Amino acid sequence: EPPRVVVPKAAAEPEEVDDGKKKVTIFYGTQTGTAEGFAKALAEEAKARYQQAKFKVIDLDDYAADDEEYEEKMKKETFAFFFLATYGDGEPTDNAARFYKWFTEGKERGDWLKNLQYGVFGLGNRQYEHFNKIAKEVDNIAAEQGGNKLVPVGLGDDDQCIEDDFTAWRELLWPELDKLLRDEDDATVATPYTAAVLEYRVVFHDQLEESISENGYANGNAVYDAQHPCRANVAIKKELHTPASDRSCTHLEFDISGTGLAYETGDHVGVYCENLIETVEEAERLLSLPPQTYFSIHTDKEDGTPLGGSSLTPPFPPCTLRTALTRYADLLSAPKKSALMALAAYASDSSEAERLKHLASPAGKEDYSDYVVTNQRSILEIMAEFPSAKPPLGVFFAAVAPRLQPRFYSISSSPKIAQNRIHVTCALVYEKTPTGRIHKGVCSTWMKNAVPSEESLDCSSAPIFVRTSNFRLPADPKVPIVMIGPGTGLAPFRGFLQERLALKESGAELGPAVLFFGCRNRQMDFIYEDELNNFVKAGVISELVLAFSREGSTKEYVQHKMSQKASDVWNMISEGGYVYVCGDAKGMARDVHRTLHTIVQEQGSMDSTKAEGFVKNLQMTGRYLRDVW
Ligand code: 2AM
Repeated sequence: EPPRVVVPKAAAEPEEVDDGKKKVTIFYGTQTGTAEGFAKALAEEAKARYQQAKFKVIDLDDYAADDEEYEEKMKKETFAFFFLATYGDGEPTDNAARFYKWFTEGKERGDWLKNLQYGVFGLGNRQYEHFNKIAKEVDNIAAEQGGNKLVPVGLGDDDQCIEDDFTAWRELLWPELDKLLRDEDDATVATPYTAAVLEYRVVFHDQLEESISENGYANGNAVYDAQHPCRANVAIKKELHTPASDRSCTHLEFDISGTGLAYETGDHVGVYCENLIETVEEAERLLSLPPQTYFSIHTDKEDGTPLGGSSLTPPFPPCTLRTALTRYADLLSAPKKSALMALAAYASDSSEAERLKHLASPAGKEDYSDYVVTNQRSILEIMAEFPSAKPPLGVFFAAVAPRLQPRFYSISSSPKIAQNRIHVTCALVYEKTPTGRIHKGVCSTWMKNAVPSEESLDCSSAPIFVRTSNFRLPADPKVPIVMIGPGTGLAPFRGFLQERLALKESGAELGPAVLFFGCRNRQMDFIYEDELNNFVKAGVISELVLAFSREGSTKEYVQHKMSQKASDVWNMISEGGYVYVCGDAKGMARDVHRTLHTIVQEQGSMDSTKAEGFVKNLQMTGRYLRDVW
């Protein structure tokens, strides 16, 4: 099971005593733990640098129970740092959503932040349209409302080396903090990294202790979330591509009957999957430890959070090494520089240690970029290439292998048709990397190999939870809708169409619905073909427009079809219709966005600026919604 680490809530804390020390609060909005790791790393290094200040790292969601409390507490802050990731279509992380909404909507508060010294570091990816939008917005608004910006907003770019961006931003920050927080006695300090690792203790157990309860009622009720997922069986699994295709796409149904887990059409499901046994065995071999090794990881930190220092992962329940590697360790992503440093510290061969240190150092920047990033070397691959580096278990799980993260999928069913099932439509990730390694996507491979209960009593299951989205059908089913979803971008629209079918069967009148779907070849990867044709027959889709990109001599994409249907699309929008886009954010969604702009401009006889305003307005009023990744 994923961790059930209980982080004390703000409310449960004792009242702060005023000891005259300056108080610095470091906030994070994290999805995969990177922002949290950076926040803690900053706190750890700052603590060592400034003895006369107090540092607190806090999850934005735990900071305050409501808007009023946010305002009341934020008003009293004098030093604040924010680590904020941007996701999908320029959205905040789940745990920063409430804060972000409150902070960005409260523009009329005046200069209420005039006593605040602050800095913002963003985590994003330059390949996406809304690069670091959340961090930039918070940075701007804090300045507009009187806050004193200590450093320019840090624009961390995950496409390159985000650790380097963080290091560079930190280097800008120290001189500023030196002026404000430094005491004469404060000495310069060594890197916080080694200190941090030592704080993890590994306890080996002689016998199995009782296992953690499987179904996630750990928070006292049936509200499931990422920390309290619900174990669900796989009921059905089907391959959606034909045998003629050299790729694979899995249709999977999780059985949620009797669990209390509920969802709405358009929501996402988070899935904690497992590593392949071959991957796990390779890791066991590299660690030179038997799979039955039963252990747990502990921290001596008083606040219950695992560690400061670098971005170290939190502990998990006591289990065998086999289980820990299967469920909790990300073994196939590229190692972070801090992971290379950790390996270097335990490399018995000095030339291996030197090489690892070099790769993690500023001087080795180019080498890291080539050897690790471009060549897509995984953690296991690197451990195999540096065989003398054998980190002890605590270091391995704390500093080398990050926590295996849940994967999110747009649910491809509607509870109106499939109340007890969550359907997932998942394309297999299977590719050869530059070093010749076959990279098998962890979750898509798990899904492809899953054993459904219709085939065996000993079926596969996974801890899952639902993430609410704003990707919703119009409240009035008569409102026209335009859906654009090539490839697995079709997923949420299958849910929409199921919902419309249910509405129609219960007597509702449906407005027009056009679906633009694209794939490579009708004979290979036209997923859910029969179902879509049936939706047309049933009057749930008024027009199905198809683009096959690899049938003819030229590429035909959904946006080309949209241009051909420009006047229909425009008419539907003019009648108050909604536009939905789902799928790849970097290519498709951006190209579709441009096409939409052109359609509005030409069909609506507007100039480019006007058309832009029009599209923006569609977005602001919730009539142009995107579910992109
Ligand atoms: P391709 O692989 O032949 O380039 C689903 O993945 C479909 O989306 C495929 O037919 C794929 O075509 C297509 N696709 C790839 N890039 C796209 C883009 N930028 N815009 C629209 N469709 C795209």
